[in-house]
Amino acid sequence: MQLIFLVAFLSLNFMSTYCQQDKIVEDELLLTLDEKNALGKFQQALKDDKFLNITEPYMMQEIYLIKWLRAAHLDTAKAYNNYRMNIKWRKENKMDTILTEDFAVQMEHLPIFIDGEDKMGRPIIAADAGQWDVRRGVVSGLRDMATRFLYYVIEKQYKKIREKQYKGENVTQIQVIVDLSGYNLVQHGCLNCIPLYINFIRSFDHYPYLAHSIIVVNAPPVFEAVADLLNLRQPRRFRVHIFGNNKSEWHKFLLTFISPNQLPVFLGGTAVEN
Ligand SMILES: *[C@@H]1O[C@H](CO)[C@@H](O)[C@H](O)[C@H]1NC(C)=O
Ligand SMILES: *[C@@H]1O[C@H](CO)[C@@H](O)[C@H](O)[C@H]1NC(C)=O
Ligand SMILES: *[C@@H]1O[C@H](CO)[C@@H](O)[C@H](O)[C@H]1NC(C)=O
Repeated sequence: MQLIFLVAFLSLNFMSTYCQQDKIVEDELLLTLDEKNALGKFQQALKDDKFLNITEPYMMQEIYLIKWLRAAHLDTAKAYNNYRMNIKWRKENKMDTILTEDFAVQMEHLPIFIDGEDKMGRPIIAADAGQWDVRRGVVSGLRDMATRFLYYVIEKQYKKIREKQYKGENVTQIQVIVDLSGYNLVQHGCLNCIPLYINFIRSFDHYPYLAHSIIVVNAPPVFEAVADLLNLRQPRRFRVHIFGNNKSEWHKFLLTFISPNQLPVFLGGTAVEN
């Protein structure tokens, strides 16, 4: 059991490179001179590439491109390469049309609340992940579709960000909250849920700097132990917050940046879940 959690956390570790360090929203919109120069080169490289075939206009916007540059530490060639790979990945996986697909079945079996936002206007993904194992037959039978559903959720929140930006709001990121209450490997034997959790976390690799923070609440004790072992709580490396099942602790934390009416009931809020 501990090994499995270790694997889960190693992938968290992997993801952390893309989690934002200590920037506030405004910072993300302000470019340093170095960033401005690198951005110019990056844009030129993309324009010169006749084979890119970018279909979505937002993918050429500075606010989108700067995330790729920052993830590559302003190495233009690296950013360009990662960006190109991402376009390829999006094409292979038909990501540009995922929002038109029907996920009614997954929505029913993988409870996720996506109607809230934090006090800065960042859309929230609040996953009632501990409940994903309850109908484990469904989860295992539909695992690939479940993973795709999680991409759908991310794309949906990303789209909200773009809509906010068109309205002049300074929103560039989302918040991710994963509630593991009720999750019990021994009792539920939900081995199939583990790859799903890992896939969910890995999926953010395709979206640099999209997640502002990932907050895990009601994590089982073994989760905590591994987190300590890997120094996951080191703020300089990660913006990953892990809480056990002391509700007053995590609830208080969530309320520092999210209003109760933006939080679903399973996270101690008052928002009505659809
Ligand atoms: C967004 O950020 C820019 C740059 O920091 C600022 O000038 C502008 O007033 C902000 N807009 C809103 C709606 O907060
Ligand atoms: C882009 O379109 C051109 C012309 O249709 C095609 O030859 C090329 O393979 C496409 N590139 C990618 C990466 O799909
Ligand atoms: C939960 O956390 C609060 C605040 O840290 C603390 O006062 C309380 O004793 C804790 N409750 C339990 C059951 O540990």
